[in-house]
Amino acid sequence: MSSPSLCSELIFYVNGKKIVERNADPEEMLLGYLRRRVGLMGTKYGCGSGGCGACTVMLSRYEPLCDAVLHYSVNACLLPICSLHGQAIVTVEGIGSTKTKLHPVQERIAKAHGSQCGFCTPGMVMSMYTLLRNQPQPTMEDIREALGGNLCRCTGYRPIIDGFKTFCEASACCQNGESGRTCCMENINTVRNDMSEELFNMDDALPLDSSQDLIFPPQLTLMARKQGDGRLCFQGNRVKWISPADLKDLVKLKAEYPDAPLMVGNTDIGPKMIVKGVLHPLIIYGGRISELRTIKWGNNGVTVGSACSLSTLKEVLQTAVSELDPNKTRVYQALLQPLLCLAGKQIRNMATIGGNVLSANPKYDLSSILAAAECKLQVISKGGTREVILNEEFFTGFGKTVLQPSEILLSIHIPLSKPWEFVSAFRQAQRREFAFSMVNAGMRVAFKEDTAVVEEIDVFYGGLGPTLVKAGRTCKELVGRSWEEKLLSDACRLLQEEVGLCSSAHGGRVSFRNTLALSFFYKFYMQVLLELKSRGVDVCDVPLEYLSALKPFKNEVPQGKHSFQLVPEIQSSMDPVGRPSMHRAAYQQATGEAQYYDDIPPVKGELFVSMVTSTRAHAKIIAIDASVALTMPGVVTFISAGDVPGQNRRLWFNNPEELFAEQEVICVGQIIGAIVAETREQAKRAADKVQVTYEDLLPVLLTIQEAIEHQSFFHPIRRLERGNVEEGFGKAENILEGEMYMGGQEHFYMETQGLIAVPKGESGEMDLYVASQHAAYTQEVVGITLGVPSNKITCHVKRLGGGFGGKVMKIATLSAITATAAHKTGRAVRCVLERGDDMLITGGRHPFLGKYKVGFMDDGTVLAADITYYSNGGCTLDESTFIMEKALLHMDNGYRIPHLRGRGFVCKTHLPSYTAFRGFGGPQGLTIIESVLHEVAVKCDLPAEKVRAINMYRDEESYTHHKQVFSPRNMICCWEECLEKSEYRKRLSAIEEFNSLNHWKKRGIAAVPLKFGIGFSKGFYNQGAALVNIYKDGSILVSHGGTEMGQGINTKAIQIVSRILKVPMSLIHIKETCTGNVPNAAPSAASFGTDAVGMAVKNASEKLRSRLEPLIEKHPKYTWPELVVEAYCQKISLSATGFFMGPHTSVDWEKSEGPAYYYFTYGACCSEVEIDCLTGDHKNIRTDIVMDVGRSLNPALDIGQIEGGFVQGIGLYTIEELQFSPDGVLLTRGPSQYKVPALCDVPPQLNVHLLANARNPHAIYSSKGIGEPPVFFGCTLFFAIKEAIAAARRERGQSNSFPLSSPATAEKIRMACQDRFTSMATSAEKGPCIPWTINV
Ligand SMILES: Cc1cc2nc3c(=O)[nH]c(=O)nc-3n(C[C@H](O)[C@H](O)[C@H](O)COP(=O)(O)OP(=O)(O)OC[C@H]3O[C@@H](n4cnc5c(N)ncnc54)[C@H](O)[C@@H]3O)c2cc1C
Ligand code: FES
Ligand code: FES
Repeated sequence: MSSPSLCSELIFYVNGKKIVERNADPEEMLLGYLRRRVGLMGTKYGCGSGGCGACTVMLSRYEPLCDAVLHYSVNACLLPICSLHGQAIVTVEGIGSTKTKLHPVQERIAKAHGSQCGFCTPGMVMSMYTLLRNQPQPTMEDIREALGGNLCRCTGYRPIIDGFKTFCEASACCQNGESGRTCCMENINTVRNDMSEELFNMDDALPLDSSQDLIFPPQLTLMARKQGDGRLCFQGNRVKWISPADLKDLVKLKAEYPDAPLMVGNTDIGPKMIVKGVLHPLIIYGGRISELRTIKWGNNGVTVGSACSLSTLKEVLQTAVSELDPNKTRVYQALLQPLLCLAGKQIRNMATIGGNVLSANPKYDLSSILAAAECKLQVISKGGTREVILNEEFFTGFGKTVLQPSEILLSIHIPLSKPWEFVSAFRQAQRREFAFSMVNAGMRVAFKEDTAVVEEIDVFYGGLGPTLVKAGRTCKELVGRSWEEKLLSDACRLLQEEVGLCSSAHGGRVSFRNTLALSFFYKFYMQVLLELKSRGVDVCDVPLEYLSALKPFKNEVPQGKHSFQLVPEIQSSMDPVGRPSMHRAAYQQATGEAQYYDDIPPVKGELFVSMVTSTRAHAKIIAIDASVALTMPGVVTFISAGDVPGQNRRLWFNNPEELFAEQEVICVGQIIGAIVAETREQAKRAADKVQVTYEDLLPVLLTIQEAIEHQSFFHPIRRLERGNVEEGFGKAENILEGEMYMGGQEHFYMETQGLIAVPKGESGEMDLYVASQHAAYTQEVVGITLGVPSNKITCHVKRLGGGFGGKVMKIATLSAITATAAHKTGRAVRCVLERGDDMLITGGRHPFLGKYKVGFMDDGTVLAADITYYSNGGCTLDESTFIMEKALLHMDNGYRIPHLRGRGFVCKTHLPSYTAFRGFGGPQGLTIIESVLHEVAVKCDLPAEKVRAINMYRDEESYTHHKQVFSPRNMICCWEECLEKSEYRKRLSAIEEFNSLNHWKKRGIAAVPLKFGIGFSKGFYNQGAALVNIYKDGSILVSHGGTEMGQGINTKAIQIVSRILKVPMSLIHIKETCTGNVPNAAPSAASFGTDAVGMAVKNASEKLRSRLEPLIEKHPKYTWPELVVEAYCQKISLSATGFFMGPHTSVDWEKSEGPAYYYFTYGACCSEVEIDCLTGDHKNIRTDIVMDVGRSLNPALDIGQIEGGFVQGIGLYTIEELQFSPDGVLLTRGPSQYKVPALCDVPPQLNVHLLANARNPHAIYSSKGIGEPPVFFGCTLFFAIKEAIAAARRERGQSNSFPLSSPATAEKIRMACQDRFTSMATSAEKGPCIPWTINV
């Protein structure tokens, strides 16, 4: 056995290659190791805390207990390399490549258009690959489970599923057959013959071939069998790691070092170390102890080793449930409920049952149900073993238990249930899967045989306090009582008194959490009632319409139908325009070869910069002290305002914004300085040590309400008016006033912001490799900051891992700061924001408040509407005025309201500055008017769809409220086709019937039309430029000013060049966007990228084509390369620039008129949802979208944009909720707190149809811009939820006109479905009301 002071050799394999690490650092996670030491860049950083799946790899190990090699998907960001001894890792690079052979998983995700920006793709590939290693013919349920822990912000998941479902056996492919729907594999062509439903073809896809898989290294099997490695020790700079090989040694070590944590899965310890900076100087690793992984069955239950993963636990329980008498497995059935949706597959593979309980985090789900089931813990220490009951006394505080520090949890005994015992588990989270529960519960009741008399009852809650809570007094009162309505009402009253939270409780959401506690008990009451009834016990009936409340929502895999118009028959088969071509870099993305800025290998001498940010919302900076930080290892320098060689400001339309705060801070998260160090870890640690002394200033304005009270607005205040609103109100039969609030949204692009600044050492030149949507602006800002002209600064943008508007502005600030660091040190400097910093610093979508007054007739016709919009702009103007303008310009949507007035105020507050986000104010402007129409429909007691239809623009020559002429024909076509395709009317009746038969579950359906302006309303931006070079070998290089961020701009540009030059797409390449090739480009934004770039590329290609035309005529038989050589010899220029001068759009705000947009994209969307009135959970059932994208350049990419945008809209309108503390601190700083849509949120039926015979004379080949509009369609879910809530309220005799702000979270749904539980929970709230969070 080696002594703890000596370092051991760490042996593991990566992609079949043996790695022997003699200086393994216990703080090093596999993700950083792969990327920075091994040089494998395919595995991505998205969050560093197990919350996104971008870092998924496969881990294989030989398990002596079952003599088999086991494969798991795991999150490399939480996997310490020291834990890998004897194990094999396979990364995306290890399964296939474009240079050798693609793996079928890689090929199929690419071919099915499942990779847009590609940043999530390697993680998706590895999750699926691991599944196939374990199950070569998976079911759809297997795929759903495998991908539940992988987030994608671009695609909307459906295409990923479409690609992967081709691995399923046809019979197992989908669950759609069940409800009488068509199986997704049956390609029944029901569309016209000029339409197609086929977005891809897998006929020639590579078959799954297990011989392509890397074998598990035999050396590792031998090592595991021999178990001869003994204790392993690794010493890093700050942390020592000891990994004992057997239990005896572990017990000894724990006695010696009681304060060292016993780490197993690292899913609880890891995030605290990585994200919160917790330091454990010594870690004892328990993952090699086989005694902790054993599973033993006894007569009265199973004993599970504490180091068994949650996946293993789930499998064990599932087997038991399928094999044993159901009456004996009630505990196991209950325990499976949270295990089916807890975290993602990767985390469940790593996390252990012991770690879950001993983390003593009340949000973790297992303790409440294990305690209710009276589980016992076997504990070992030097003094021997003992048994401890898992109950409320076991937990002594947050993160604390009664175990002594030297004690080790050996195993947990989970009993079989007794004959008259009933057990249930409940949880409600922000998202149905892959989210911590807000409240969880475990409940057990045992009856006197053959009676309804309670013999024993236990009710435990997690999430109602710092520790597990037992409703002990309540339970005591219930013993001996009969299971009847009186017991229920007494129990609820007692529960509320005993476990109810006070108003200022940690975590907020007090009424909701209190209500959940009661609702869960009510569900339990009914479940048990039903059971007793089925056993012939004389209890009261459960009304049939109450039964659906007992069934949790079933998660399904999204499927969908698509249709698009085929290209005309006369179009050459060589011409790719209009065909569903795969994203050009999809294979590179799927193999991990695609390079993002942080994948660029380190430049010699490279440094890292980490930001020092304000912790106060509004304060004077008294002093900045970096002295401690400067003494820390690796720190090179600290920079702040005084180090900026040029100007310490970023200018945007004459509005300056400081790069570094100099005198005063105006929000939490504002950059004050930055530490430059040798490594990212050193920079981060030192940045935390910079001391800033503040003097708080008043006022601190955070909310829209506060800004209104203080009249704190940015100028100009915009106004648009059509008709005479007062006159309209005078004629109206009804007047209604109200307001609608819409929360903001975080971009959550999977790739966080950053860049590398490389000083060239000559004439002040600097190259920046940057994730920017607006390279020209970044170049300009960096030049001004450094005091050098733009021609010395070159920005390179290869691709972005998602942008969504968030990488236009703030990235320029980050670039200027990084460039300052590079300038000061003379060395290359890299900046990669951690997810938490990215969320804190970079801002997101503006929260909006719309206050309205509307005048309407009894038939729903709206005569006049006066809407005042307030947006929270944050502390600087950024793009807020333009965003407000877009909201105002969209306030009419598709409705001809004769008298319409809008005013727009951008509130100046002390929050991080809000910025552009896909839709740019459009969704907010549109949603408020939709809300107005919804309320009008409610007041008129008419279906909302009727009120929408009656108010729509109908005249062929219609005028918007800013007097822009347009034809609404295609909007009406989309609307009618959408209602027809979605079978709206039929389903509306079905929903009414469903609602009448179900008391606690309700459904709603909503449809909206859309008219969305395309192009920049700042007319000068409507331009594009390109450069096309033909080389002598016939290959073509295209450069343009757009940036590729997943939307497929490069693919479309190549399709256009291919059409004009009549060469295959394979000859055409786009390397990067570079300010040195195409200067002064507009941002890739406003859905205008392809319009501008496409036209410019077309222009350049046509120039070349016309130069070549005489030669083609002369040498008709020449091949393309021959032609090019001939042209070269004839001294014909083979390089051409292209330019597109777009329309001059502008609005005269004084006169309320002007053509704000180039043209409009139209569409319509219809969605159906179901809500659980008791928990606030909801399920998106089906969505149908019909979209007018003109003649699509590439239907696959356009449908991808529509689905992806819509799913971002799902997030915006239903689950994404940013939370700020009353001090203005953003609390939601990572995927654990902020939930973007995961696979479970996508409607199982998501159908997208492109309107046939659509044309657009204004844009390239009659196409239309599509990037932004579909986000708004997420509001159909919001209004459908509102309909469902209204149905519940009507049934309970409450008004169906009620306020609901966006997003319609579980909390809001539950609290709007008022009933006796909400009343009890709200009236019983105790203590003064100090809000945990505020609505900004
Ligand atoms: C992204 C993410 C999502 C999650 N979602 C959920 C969720 O929805 N619901 C939920 O319930 N949980 C969730 N979790 C938490 C997860 O289940 C726990 O982190 C996990 O079970 C802890 O196990 P571990 O082996 O990783 O513990 P570690 O991190 O290794 O250790 C955790 C603690 O337990 C102690 N410990 C572990 N084993 C022993 C032992 N045998 N004896 C003594 N002490 C021991 C350690 O010393 C440490 O204090 C999530 C975690 C992540 C990262
Ligand atoms: S980076 Fe590992 S899960 Fe997000
Ligand atoms: S393709 Fe999934 S995050 Fe971009």
